[in-house]
Amino acid sequence: MAGAPNPFEQQRPIEGVKHIISISSGKGGVGKSTMTSNLAIALAKAGKKVGLLDADIYGPSVPRMFGAVNQRPEVTKDNKIIPLERYGVKLMSMGFITEEEAALVWRGPMLFKAMDQMLRDVQWGELDYLLMDLPPGTGDVPLSLAQKVPIAGAVVVTTPQNISLIDVKKSIDMFERTGTPIVGMVENMAFFRGPNGEELEMFPSGELDAYLDRKKIAKVARFGFFNSIAKGGEVGIPFMEQNVDSPETAEFKNLANLLIENYQ
Ligand SMILES: Nc1ncnc2c1ncn2[C@@H]1O[C@H](COP(=O)(O)OP(=O)(O)O)[C@@H](O)[C@H]1O
Ligand SMILES: [Mg+2]
Repeated sequence: MAGAPNPFEQQRPIEGVKHIISISSGKGGVGKSTMTSNLAIALAKAGKKVGLLDADIYGPSVPRMFGAVNQRPEVTKDNKIIPLERYGVKLMSMGFITEEEAALVWRGPMLFKAMDQMLRDVQWGELDYLLMDLPPGTGDVPLSLAQKVPIAGAVVVTTPQNISLIDVKKSIDMFERTGTPIVGMVENMAFFRGPNGEELEMFPSGELDAYLDRKKIAKVARFGFFNSIAKGGEVGIPFMEQNVDSPETAEFKNLANLLIENYQ
């Protein structure tokens, strides 16, 4: 519409970063940070320069998942934050700034100032991909992030149940409204692998597939509940760093390759 105000005109790229990819979910606890961490490592192993911005301000889990709890990034003379590096991935998290057990009670202006710092004051250097672990849902923080930087593609993570799908729909709707292209859906904890490698249902599967069909959104990966994935997050050495020979490893590699093909 000619002359209409553009609510996204404040969108500015991040210096040195080729592609910003967001990982989001409707709900917490569906494996968003786990997916982000392992995807980041898969991309790094494929020879790409990768950064991970843990923008889940209220529940940062990247420090723990990368074995970097209580680490503090260095700050340059001109007040730029130098990201930490683990397993070939540059990391920035609100968890590096706040104490792990402290409740973040920031609201309004303070919250937005912190967010701006995370977006503008980190010295990433040259990156092929910056993965952004967004807070769940469609609140102020994810919406505002989607408006401040040009997200090249959004990966949305969900578990198969309908109860999760309701919130996923809102998440997708938010990206449609902010004009963010959706890479696709990752279905996580979709099954449990039995002793003979067979897939056992974990949750009654709901209407996810029908919804995706209707919206013409691709399911770009599907993961079972895999103990090594959970363990990787606990011990601070993500699953993909452990070089396990498994279908899950191949699935992370495929997802990384899909991003590489789509975002050169
Ligand atoms: N595919 C999986 N197999 C096993 N455990 C998983 C898997 N995906 C996530 N988890 C576990 O589920 C919990 C929640 O995952 P997390 O990535 O923190 O979720 P979110 O970031 O969406 O809140 C963590 O304990 C994590 O280790
Ligand atoms: Mg998380």
